[in-house]
Amino acid sequence: MPIVTPTGEPVPRRRKTVALCRCGASTIKPYCDGTHKLINFRTEPDLPDPADLPDGRQ
Ligand code: FES
Repeated sequence: MPIVTPTGEPVPRRRKTVALCRCGASTIKPYCDGTHKLINFRTEPDLPDPADLPDGRQ
């Protein structure tokens, strides 16, 4: 599946398998280049499954 910008321009990829950067520090955005390890990026703990909430809110 191609990655495109908000205006629909394709974003070239040089690798067969890619991950999207979530830390914002990658030098090859929107793709991850491993910089998250250097800056010790951590995500929030897993959120509860909405189906497990009392009123099903998301
Ligand atoms: S998530 Fe940003 S470099 Fe990996």
